[in-house]
Amino acid sequence: MPHTLDKISPYLPFGDRRDAPFYGHDILSVNQFNRDDLRYLFGVAHEMREMVARVGCFDLLKGKVLANLFYEPSTRTASSFMAAMQRLGGSVIPISEVRYSSVAKGESLPDTVRTLECYADVIVLRHPENGAAALAASYAQKPIINAGDGTGEHPTQALLDLFTIHEELARVEGLTVTMLGDLKYGRTVHSLARLLSLYNVKLNYVSPGILRMPQEVKDEVSARGVAQYETSDLSEVLEQTDVLYVTRVQKERFEDPAAYESVRGAYVITPDTMRAAKAKMILMHPLPRVGEISMDLDSDPRAAYFRQMEYGMYVRMALLAATLGKA
Ligand code: ASP
Ligand code: CP
Repeated sequence: MPHTLDKISPYLPFGDRRDAPFYGHDILSVNQFNRDDLRYLFGVAHEMREMVARVGCFDLLKGKVLANLFYEPSTRTASSFMAAMQRLGGSVIPISEVRYSSVAKGESLPDTVRTLECYADVIVLRHPENGAAALAASYAQKPIINAGDGTGEHPTQALLDLFTIHEELARVEGLTVTMLGDLKYGRTVHSLARLLSLYNVKLNYVSPGILRMPQEVKDEVSARGVAQYETSDLSEVLEQTDVLYVTRVQKERFEDPAAYESVRGAYVITPDTMRAAKAKMILMHPLPRVGEISMDLDSDPRAAYFRQMEYGMYVRMALLAATLGKA
């Protein structure tokens, strides 16, 4: 796998920093990051947040082009990458409906990315197959950013999730993070559990029996010495929880519709549920939600899911600046 493949152009554009961390790198998995990388990226994301608050847009990536290539639906990831690029003065080729592209004529993923890199400096890719981003990266000369590959990973989501935790609770060390819902098919929790295992945290996994966290992820996490606990009963762990990370049951990943029906609506977080939670904790969700969190909770100060989306734009601004050598 070409993780952290360094794709430094021989024609280095004026002002690009060759020595910048992540310059020319693919972003395929959270396993590429260590704690120093995260400190650096979150520092840049902080600066982005301040600059957006002060001036809205600035020309750090003027002249750069992002190709946003989405084979699966997206609201947040596609639009926050677009907003991130535009706020940094760059421009975007949006391909959010691959059925209107030559993919509909049968063009392969390797040829599609080799086409787009003729026009763009970086490609953000969402695809229904695990490993698609790594495959694309092995063909492309320009950086590929994984925006979700099947049930595999969603690394930029995990980065923004961790940034959210850091901003909201001012620390990560020592926290108890409870992930709830579809832990089998949910790529966001696969990435987040791996990323959190860089810290001294406790992870609880709450899911129906058929939607447990994959063994592969649990093995990676336990190899880093992080305690994990599995249950199907949220009330066992809610009182100790600092971050409750709720996920949607991934209907589109089920082969058997009856199996989906047996677990849809398995958990619904309501104001009543949250009575047992700490006063100082946060409720997160990568979104979209389809009933797992009652809208009655939206005004609860612990509900961080809307703020989480905004943090995402700053983290993606930082990632684009870093991979393009301008951070
Ligand atoms: N938006 C996230 C993803 O694409 C979570 C979800 O769709 O449930 O993985
Ligand atoms: N969280 C997330 O990836 O949302 P979208 O699927 O809308 O991009």
